[in-house]
Amino acid sequence: TLAGQVDRAIRRRSSDSVPSMTGVTVVDHPLVARHLSVLRDKATPSSDFRRRLSDISMLLLFESLRDLRVREDAIETPLETTGGMRLADEIVVIAILRAGLGMTDGALRLIPEARVGHLGLYRDEESLQPVGYYESVPRHAADAEVVVVDPMLATGGSAVSALDRLKRDVTGRMRFVCLVAAPEGIAAVRERHPDVPIFCAAIDRELDERGYIRPGLGDAGDRIFGTE
Ligand code: PRP
Ligand code: URA
Repeated sequence: TLAGQVDRAIRRRSSDSVPSMTGVTVVDHPLVARHLSVLRDKATPSSDFRRRLSDISMLLLFESLRDLRVREDAIETPLETTGGMRLADEIVVIAILRAGLGMTDGALRLIPEARVGHLGLYRDEESLQPVGYYESVPRHAADAEVVVVDPMLATGGSAVSALDRLKRDVTGRMRFVCLVAAPEGIAAVRERHPDVPIFCAAIDRELDERGYIRPGLGDAGDRIFGTE
């Protein structure tokens, strides 16, 4: 089963510090798995990669937002008044640059009224530490539902740094949505931000010596923007 695979992947890599699966959701659906397979395939060109990433992002965000709070609202159909609903809270999507940009279009198709913020972070190739170079976080987000998106959760340095930064201004609920997670990245985010649930399409086997997720899909930013 998928749960068994996830468990084994985590145990294989982290026998001395098995991260709890609490707060981690692997979105288990054949369409998610199919999109991910195409994204992993090195023969998939950037044009298809972008479209697939947008589509799978919608599916992942859809699942991640299952517990959004709602308010009742009266609706006039052409025939009568009936009960409807509206979302109770503002939604803010925060994309970690560059690769998170590949998920914002799908997020906005799902939630057209969402505000979008950006955090520019790149990983230093030697130290693998995140380096911040840009930030634009929407105002009025104090109590918003904040969804941080980045396709890759590798060492977890970028995600932890983004969440640290956001928590300086934002008091609302946060969640982290990615495509592929390494056990190390999950452990890092769960340890530093145990209040932030993680949603992903897959937990992969391991990180290699260059900090790449294996089997992974390569450098997500390069594959989105054709910069490899
Ligand atoms: C990638 C990815 C994440 C980060 C994950 O970005 O999009 O932001 O690496 O790695 P981590 O969990 O070890 O921090 P990268 O630094 O390659 O920048 P880019 O998206 O601009 O290419
Ligand atoms: N960032 C990526 O884009 N890919 C990886 O495998 C790891 C970090």
